[in-house]
Amino acid sequence: MQNERSRQNENETVKPIGPAGSTGPAGPAGPAGTSGSTGGRKKVVLTGDRPTGALHVGHYVGSLKKRKNMLDSGEYDMFFLIADIQALTDNAENPERIRENILEVALDYLAVGLDPDRCAFVVQSQIPALFELPMYYSNLVTMARLERNPTVKAEIRQKNIDKSLPVGFATYPISQAADITAFGADYVPVGVDQLPMIEQTREIVSSFNRIYGRGGRDVLVLPEAVLPDSESQYRLVGTDGNAKMSKSLGNCIYLKDGPDAIRAKVMDMFTDPAHLRIDDPGDVESNPVFIYLDVFCTDELFAKAVAQVGPQRGAAPHASLGELKAHYRRGGVGDVYAKKLLNAVLQDVLAPIRERRQRYEANKGLVMEYLKNGTEHARACTNRVLDSVRRAIGVNYFTDEFFAQSYVRQDSPER
Ligand code: TRP
Repeated sequence: MQNERSRQNENETVKPIGPAGSTGPAGPAGPAGTSGSTGGRKKVVLTGDRPTGALHVGHYVGSLKKRKNMLDSGEYDMFFLIADIQALTDNAENPERIRENILEVALDYLAVGLDPDRCAFVVQSQIPALFELPMYYSNLVTMARLERNPTVKAEIRQKNIDKSLPVGFATYPISQAADITAFGADYVPVGVDQLPMIEQTREIVSSFNRIYGRGGRDVLVLPEAVLPDSESQYRLVGTDGNAKMSKSLGNCIYLKDGPDAIRAKVMDMFTDPAHLRIDDPGDVESNPVFIYLDVFCTDELFAKAVAQVGPQRGAAPHASLGELKAHYRRGGVGDVYAKKLLNAVLQDVLAPIRERRQRYEANKGLVMEYLKNGTEHARACTNRVLDSVRRAIGVNYFTDEFFAQSYVRQDSPER
């Protein structure tokens, strides 16, 4: 296992976080995997999204791209969870919104090239294990620990639900621990904002294995977060420069946005407010236009964009993004010009994604079928883990041989 882990690191396929050498047990509790019984089980990858809206380029940069690379490597059994139960924790009065967006998220998965023949799309609410496991786990987590969870704290602040916090929302980290462990996930590709969730899951797994592990054998797999390849991709700023791209802030570029919407949003983007005239020196570090260029540009895409947009009036064409940035820094590059280049790059990146999405949009029955099949497969996998959890705790009265044998069945007593 150690060899496999270090090989993955060399390939930069995954970038596990967590204590060095903390390899999760390839325990019997994990799902047998779709790879058959030869060669042991593949590493399991699980991640999820709340179906509260269509996915945007922030999701793409922060997680979807990584998922696609991992899937294409063929090295993992992968599950993508559409977390409708979790979405309901702060949308209880708005179930229609969740219902409508399940398909939207599935379409976005398909749009970025996640192939449902090689992974499973799973609808959370249809998996019984995900309701039962949190009940057991919740006894291993203190209220104080829940209240300390930075992700939950930030959400409470953002949504202003301090005084009316639903119990379901406060405890969703426990439910998320169930999502991850029910699949025996080794890796969880997420954005940085989710790191506290993985940490909390790891604590639950450690407690569970310590208390219920039989003879030192771990029941649950200890998961590790997988972050994007570079820090610039951890969290994409909104088009307005806000640290987070979020539907409620109206600063998103969606994967399904058409060419006109993309252009309008890019031309409207926040830049360096001190860069008033073209000749003023400009800042590129905290300038969303350049942050996006950095994230989305390859050398090839940059050259193509320059060829398409043409050089800035009265200037030689920039040979690279580095050159453009240097020029902007010392003054002489207009915001509009930089935006036109970014628009060309984004159009190039998003066109194939949008077109693939549109093809599936015209065949929603097929998408529903993918969801149904993936969910059925997931139900079988998670039931295996659930069984081992019940066995470990000893709440398997009617299937436990020892338990059954200690009660000798007599003829019915006389009444
Ligand atoms: N909390 C995640 C989000 O808000 C969604 C999610 C639910 C998830 N279950 C998960 C992510 C399990 C990773 C693993 O985006």
